[in-house]
Amino acid sequence: MDFTGKVVLITGAGNGIGRAAALGFATRGAKVVVVDRDKDSGEATAGIVRQQGGDSRFVAADVTKSADVQNYVKAALDAYGAIDCFYNNAGIEGSIAPTAEYDEDMFDTVMAVNVRGVFLGLRHVLPVMIRQGRGAVVNTASIAGLVGSPNMPAYVASKHAVIGLTKAASGEVGRNGIRVNAVCPGPIDTRMIHSVTAMINPADAAGVAARYQQSIPIGRFGQPEEVANTVIFLCSDLASNITGAQYVVDGGRTATGGAVSNPAMRSE
Ligand SMILES: NC(=O)c1ccc[n+]([C@@H]2O[C@H](COP(=O)([O-])OP(=O)(O)OC[C@H]3O[C@@H](n4cnc5c(N)ncnc54)[C@H](O)[C@@H]3O)[C@@H](O)[C@H]2O)c1
Repeated sequence: MDFTGKVVLITGAGNGIGRAAALGFATRGAKVVVVDRDKDSGEATAGIVRQQGGDSRFVAADVTKSADVQNYVKAALDAYGAIDCFYNNAGIEGSIAPTAEYDEDMFDTVMAVNVRGVFLGLRHVLPVMIRQGRGAVVNTASIAGLVGSPNMPAYVASKHAVIGLTKAASGEVGRNGIRVNAVCPGPIDTRMIHSVTAMINPADAAGVAARYQQSIPIGRFGQPEEVANTVIFLCSDLASNITGAQYVVDGGRTATGGAVSNPAMRSE
């Protein structure tokens, strides 16, 4: 998984999973274009890469705005002349409420970032990769793109849509030497999961998090680096026959639906 000389573009790279991916690609030799709407955290990610001897630059962008997306693509090409890998990752969680009560504006906001943002990224990066005759794309979906999660209707719908966009695009650009996959993280230890547990029970977010982790076979939230490792694999030549796929990184949560065997309850 050597990315020496490759150009990797990552949205939502200011924090969490996107930052872990930026650092992981950079330590394997990639030049990393960090995209985020949060200037401070985006600059910080690019700064860490440079401190560690890597090559990175930050481009501020709101992924919901076409002009911003076209600008981050242009900035990557101006700086490095190509886009070999695109990690289309920026996303938001929205609020916690049943569909019957879900705020209409919040629904639009979540769909704008998680669906329109991912679509616009594909819309403007794929033409570059088609011209190059090569490229690898990973979109961040979620296990909420595979199964329902009550009280997160916009998030669940948006992540199912990310998998749809992944499947559609993979069939369009395979002959151009471009692979398009999705990664489906389960609960990962970033700002987002702590925001969700706090919304579920503001008085006892730690208790919600503890119960959630008890429902995961591996017994804990994932780390952002564990998702990043899968993304790096999917972008590497080791994944040369993988496209249109969804890779679950969830400690076994989806496979078991939250059922976990407790060795202490065995009779023998
Ligand atoms: N953390 C989890 O448990 C989890 C689980 C499944 C999927 N995911 C997905 O992983 C991705 C990354 O999430 P994370 O956990 O690292 O969260 P995070 O909040 O730590 O990071 C998300 C980053 O995206 C940026 N961002 C948000 N909206 C943006 C916009 N409109 N334009 C540009 N940048 C924007 C934020 O500023 C932030 O830096 C998201 O798509 C999320 O839905 C996370």
